[in-house]
Amino acid sequence: MDKIVIEGGTPLSGQISISGAKNSALKLMVACLLTDEPLELTNMPNLRDTRFLGHLLENFGVKVTDGVGNLTMHAKTLTSTTAPYDLVRKMRASFNVLGPVLARAHKAKVSLPGGCAIGARPVDLHLNALKAMGAEIELSEGYVIASASGGLKGAEITFPFISVGATEHSMLAAVLAKGETVLNNAAREPEIVDLANCLNAMGAKISGAGRSEVTIQGVKKLGGTKFAVVPDRIEAGTYALAAATVGGAVRLVNVRSDHLGSLWPLIAQAGAKVTMDENSVLVERHGTPIHPVDVETQAYPGFPTDLQAQFMAMMCLADGVSIIRENIFENRFMHCPELSRMGANITVSGREAIIRGVPKLKGAQVMATDLRASASLIAAGMAAEGTTEVGRVYHLDRGFEQIEVKLGNCGARIKRVKE
Ligand code: EPZ
Repeated sequence: MDKIVIEGGTPLSGQISISGAKNSALKLMVACLLTDEPLELTNMPNLRDTRFLGHLLENFGVKVTDGVGNLTMHAKTLTSTTAPYDLVRKMRASFNVLGPVLARAHKAKVSLPGGCAIGARPVDLHLNALKAMGAEIELSEGYVIASASGGLKGAEITFPFISVGATEHSMLAAVLAKGETVLNNAAREPEIVDLANCLNAMGAKISGAGRSEVTIQGVKKLGGTKFAVVPDRIEAGTYALAAATVGGAVRLVNVRSDHLGSLWPLIAQAGAKVTMDENSVLVERHGTPIHPVDVETQAYPGFPTDLQAQFMAMMCLADGVSIIRENIFENRFMHCPELSRMGANITVSGREAIIRGVPKLKGAQVMATDLRASASLIAAGMAAEGTTEVGRVYHLDRGFEQIEVKLGNCGARIKRVKE
């Protein structure tokens, strides 16, 4: 298994081009199941998760053609309506095929995704939404068996709390339903807007995406389109935080700075300088101290849970005490013991972590525990004295395109070692 080896202590300097967003690309890929015409996605990130979802789509008879930075998917006919356990358990986003297959074929059998390292992550909201649209749902031997003999019907759905996945899944199911669907308390993430824009380009009638109330007028048929995936706000935030943590100056290009409105003031409060122009963001810190900043994760437009671990890596080196509260997932602090192995002083109590900043981190052997935690260990390793080895990097490959190349181009002494 590969590991990432970092020699710390070198400031970052250079430019990083941000890839298309993993968490948008995965849902846009699923949208291909809704039409018998080709869907072409551009600005596609090349990631383990997107390749994996490509295999799952092929299982349904979709012809997947992979180009450089683009991906064409053609679901002319669905040759299967089943997503087996082996293809769903490895990636939770696979579960979102249920709604589109059900909408198009009026039946679907999809394995339940199961829990994952960051929490139990149930799918009750997804299933309740499909039931509200008239689906009959049975759970049997770890599978969701769903049918809607006359097709799905529009419904008013009020989510008890905000869920990105359930909002997207409901949109994907409702576009071909008969009549109007209204989603109340919907998630407002940029990835939801991206999905709505793509579906509308395919002929759907969705309004209000990006707001709490989304309305979908069902249509009979969707067609193909060519659509560019939105830049990855989490990748951009990760590199911005890396620059602030390690020091130096990094310019981010192909970035949507407006999608990180919650991050910029916090980075500035921590002592880094953020300069934005129309197409890029420059993050700099030159020898000035890092200040402690308290933060809590929230649904968009709040501070993203997917940047919590990276923010914590920065706080480990602050000149004071900070508190980070994780409100979205119940078990997303597994990076804390790993950061502690590098000399960080962190105490976790329930959903809060208290971080007492230390003047220095020291290189150590650490283990990636999930995708975003891996990125926090890399930033800590680049800021630390000595050598850090990050193991289990397959987590990283799920969601960061060429991270060691992008950071290496900014002067980081980082390499991938095959074991
Ligand atoms: C998406 O997960 C992202 N994944 C996550 O990114 C991200 O952390 C999360 O949204 C929050 O922003 C993808 O887009 C593929 P949720 P999702 O439904 O949709 C609970 C990464 O590192 N819940 O908004 O699964 C759930 O357990 C990943 O890229 C239910 O209880 O997140 C969680 O506590 C990790 N029942 C909360 O809601 C449900 O039916 C929010 O989850 C659905 C969710």
